[in-house]
Amino acid sequence: MFLTLALAGLAAASPAPLRRDSISALGTSTINSFTPYSYFASAGYCAPAATLAWNCGTNCDNNPGFKPIASGGNGDSVQYWYVGYDPALNEIIVAHQGTNPSKFESLLTDGEFVLEQLNDNSILFPGLPDSIETHDGFKKAQADTAADVLAAVQEGMSQYSTNAVTLVGHSLGAAIALIDSVYLPLHLPASTSFKTYNYGLPRVGNQAFADYVDANVHLTHINNEEDPIPIVPGRFLGFVHPAGEVHIEDSGKWASCPGQDNDSGECIVGDVGNIFDGDLDNHSGPYNGVTMGC
Ligand SMILES: *[C@@H]1O[C@H](CO)[C@@H](O)[C@H](O)[C@H]1NC(C)=O
Ligand SMILES: *[C@@H]1O[C@H](CO)[C@@H](O)[C@H](O)[C@H]1NC(C)=O
Repeated sequence: MFLTLALAGLAAASPAPLRRDSISALGTSTINSFTPYSYFASAGYCAPAATLAWNCGTNCDNNPGFKPIASGGNGDSVQYWYVGYDPALNEIIVAHQGTNPSKFESLLTDGEFVLEQLNDNSILFPGLPDSIETHDGFKKAQADTAADVLAAVQEGMSQYSTNAVTLVGHSLGAAIALIDSVYLPLHLPASTSFKTYNYGLPRVGNQAFADYVDANVHLTHINNEEDPIPIVPGRFLGFVHPAGEVHIEDSGKWASCPGQDNDSGECIVGDVGNIFDGDLDNHSGPYNGVTMGC
C-alpha cells in the first residue's frame, strides 16, 4: 500500500508538476436541472407504443406534460427512439434507447469495429470535414433512424413554434444522440438552438470528431462512479471524448471535469484506470435517483 502510494506520487511528480487544480463541484440546483432529461433518457428504453402514448410508468410520469410526436425502432436491429415536445421546457426532445451493458461492453472491447469517416454518407453529413470519424456501429445505428428523427423534429418545431431541440440518451443511446447532435444542425435552420445530455457515454469518435463536437455541440455527458463504458473504446485505438464531462464520484459529489478525457482522479479516466477497475452495475446509475431502464 505504501509502495503503491509512493509510486503513484512519483508518477504524478514526473514529468509534470503535481497538480492541485481543483475540479469544481456542481451545486444542487444544477444537478436537479438534469432530472427531466434523465427521465427522458430512461424512457428511451420503453417500447415505441408506450412512448407514443406517453404511458410508460415512472419515466413518463416524471415529465407529465410531454406531447409525443413520433417513435420507432424495434429494440433489436434498430434502437427504440422517440421525439416529442415538452411544454414546461419549451423544447423538442429527441431520445434514443441504450442497450444491455454486458453485451455493449463486449462490442466495445472486442476490437471488431473500425473508425469510419462520417461524411461518407453525404446525404446525412453534407460538408462535414473528411477527418471526422466515428465507431462504425454507432454510425450505422444513427443512420438507421436519422431521417425519421429529423422529420419528427421538423414537425414538432413547426407545430409547437419552438426553435429549441434537446437530445438525450444513455449508453448506446448516448452515442446515437451525440452523432444526432452533429447531424441535425446540418439540416435545420441556423436559428435552432441545441443541447445534448448524455449518460454513460462511450467514446464515439476520433480527435477530429471530439474537436468538432467541442466547437459545435452544447454537450453535457454524465457518468457514474466506476462505470467502465465511458472509458471504452480505448484512447490507444484513437478514440477521444469531447469536453463536457460530469463525473458522479463515490462521495456523491458531481464533479465538472474540464477538457477532453480529463485524467484527474475526480473524473472517469483517472478514477477507472482500466475496465477491470470498473463495475458494470454503475452503468445504469442512479443518476440523482434515476436508474436507466423501462
Ligand atoms: C482537468 O481539470 C483540471 C482542473 O480544472 C485542469 O487544470 C486540467 O487542465 C484538466 N485536464 C485536461 C486534460 O483537460
Ligand atoms: C458502483 O460500484 C461500486 C464499486 O464497485 C459499488 O460499491 C456500488 O455498489 C455500485 N453501485 C451500484 C448502484 O451498483
